Amino acid sequence: MAREFTKVGVVGLGTMGAGIVEVFARNGIDVTAVEISDAALERGQVTLTGSTDRAVAKGKLAEAERDALLARVDFRVGLDALRDVDLVIEAVPEHLDLKQRIFAELDRVCKPETILATNTSSLSVTEISVATSRPNQVIGIHFFNPAPVMKLVEVVRTVVTSADVVADVEALCARLGKVDVTISDRAGFIANALLFGYLNHAVGMFEARYATREDIDAAMKLGCGLPMGPLALMDLIGLDTAYEILDTMYRRGGRDRRHAPAPLLKQMVTAGLLGRKSGRGFYTYERPGSPKVVPDAHTPPAGDAALADGARTIAKVGVVGSGTMATGIIEVFAKAGYEIISVTRGAEKSAKVCEAVKTSLNKGVVRGKLSETDREAALGRITWSATLEHLADVDLVVEAVIEELSVKKALFASLDEICKPDVVLATTTSSLPVIDVAMATQRPADVVGLHFFNPAPIMPLVEIVQTIRTSAETSATARAVCATLGKTGVVCGDRSGFIVNALLFPYLNDAVKMLEASYSTADDIDYAMKLGCGYPMGPFELLDVVGLDVSLAIQRELYLELREPGFAPAPLLEHLVTAGYLGRKTGRGFRDHTRR
Ligand SMILES: NC(=O)c1ccc[n+]([C@@H]2O[C@H](COP(=O)([O-])OP(=O)(O)OC[C@H]3O[C@@H](n4cnc5c(N)ncnc54)[C@H](O)[C@@H]3O)[C@@H](O)[C@H]2O)c1
Repeated sequence: MAREFTKVGVVGLGTMGAGIVEVFARNGIDVTAVEISDAALERGQVTLTGSTDRAVAKGKLAEAERDALLARVDFRVGLDALRDVDLVIEAVPEHLDLKQRIFAELDRVCKPETILATNTSSLSVTEISVATSRPNQVIGIHFFNPAPVMKLVEVVRTVVTSADVVADVEALCARLGKVDVTISDRAGFIANALLFGYLNHAVGMFEARYATREDIDAAMKLGCGLPMGPLALMDLIGLDTAYEILDTMYRRGGRDRRHAPAPLLKQMVTAGLLGRKSGRGFYTYERPGSPKVVPDAHTPPAGDAALADGARTIAKVGVVGSGTMATGIIEVFAKAGYEIISVTRGAEKSAKVCEAVKTSLNKGVVRGKLSETDREAALGRITWSATLEHLADVDLVVEAVIEELSVKKALFASLDEICKPDVVLATTTSSLPVIDVAMATQRPADVVGLHFFNPAPIMPLVEIVQTIRTSAETSATARAVCATLGKTGVVCGDRSGFIVNALLFPYLNDAVKMLEASYSTADDIDYAMKLGCGYPMGPFELLDVVGLDVSLAIQRELYLELREPGFAPAPLLEHLVTAGYLGRKTGRGFRDHTRR
């Protein structure tokens, strides 16, 4: 029989603590909520009532339930109030000495059988436990932000945590409606170990002005389906907390440079820009604690007019290529009302692409998303050709041929000879430097990257890649075109992986390294990222879908260009590719898909 917890204590009512109090009180457990001062106590109280009032307003909680929930919480200053609780969860700032002091005090104040838990994200639970006389009753219970919403809890057992305590805490998590993964005491556990390198990298991109905050966040939301972008997430976590977590992970986790906090973070924390909780971080919020972003000096001007500022007029578009991307791109442009010339390497290929576009448009008609008239109009706008010379008077060319530099360079050299002045030449490359392609022409200022995502008709994102020679006019044209296609265009520099792949693949590679180190299982790692961070797929699910060979190739490119030791491809990934386990397409990758 698992132990019954009737009364718990929560220490620290900041970003996490207030949410943890809500989780317990919602599930019928009495909570003593402790802060360091009356002012901090009041802030915690305001957070809790704000959150429960919002739940009532959204119809997720009845008024009577809210009142009962709030009645279960006893707000107190000082740890002495925790004499008779069965379990304490500490959620004070991420400093080892502070946590050790609090645990020593809790050990003195609490009943001998009370379980003492920490919500630390990165500190050693073992080091915290030895500040008490009962390290076997000390455990990590790591909730995710916002605690009432996120389903995951990481239960961290040290080498001395007793098995009963682990079992009791696991049963408690189930009672709270949470899914737990139980792991050992390693910096960052599962989720943060995979998340914070990515978050820090995104801050580094912003700091280097590689892309704007809006574009970095939009890229990860729209390109990967994440619930929020990395900079907005940093604001939610709190920049002071994020700094401490990175700093601890850097020191405890083998001094991986990717965890050395980006210098900008320290500056922001020193300047009091802590994120949502202080009303300003990467974004500006309506008021401290508010989730609502308000415009500030860095907010880009809204509307199509701003996008079209300086853009050339585009009416006629050439698309070169006959693969998946070219086919999708032809459809996207045709639906948006552009006149298209599709150029392939022969009538047979053109017929295939034409068939594929028709099939896709027909699906739209069947699903009621497109009228028959619009389908006919879209098809009527496409001219099928096998001759590049037909592109002499187009305003924009989108190249989507095979991912080989020599082929792309030869094509761009031909386009340079054929096309009219002022044409915009775009490449859809996902891994080659756009500048290499641009320099195959005499007009590198007119060359830009337009990185569509697969399937192009569905994915809302396009990365607009500016080389150091791309003109402002070309870039403005690309932005305006994306807007008319109904896509979000994000502008970035010409570096390996652009925004999305550069931020996504190292994280996937890290997950493989974690599996390889036997820290956790593929299932638990997938759960952790889905339920703790709201990812639509776990890293191993995604790797199997993308293809392990494709993922390895991208990771190798990133490693070669950036020479970041942490980006070195995981040996396990290399071995699986060598063994022919490439993911869903071969029936086996990290998982065996033939048996499901
Ligand atoms: N922010 C996140 O997204 C997140 C997610 C999971 C876990 N965590 C972890 O949770 C813990 C708390 O982080 P946070 O972001 O909520 O921090 P926070 O700064 O928002 O809140 C900390 C609270 O602790 C209070 N406090 C400080 N000293 C105290 C004391 N001696 N006694 C009682 N209360 C005291 C402060 O007044 C403050 O209200 C950290 O260990 C952090 O790593 C944070």
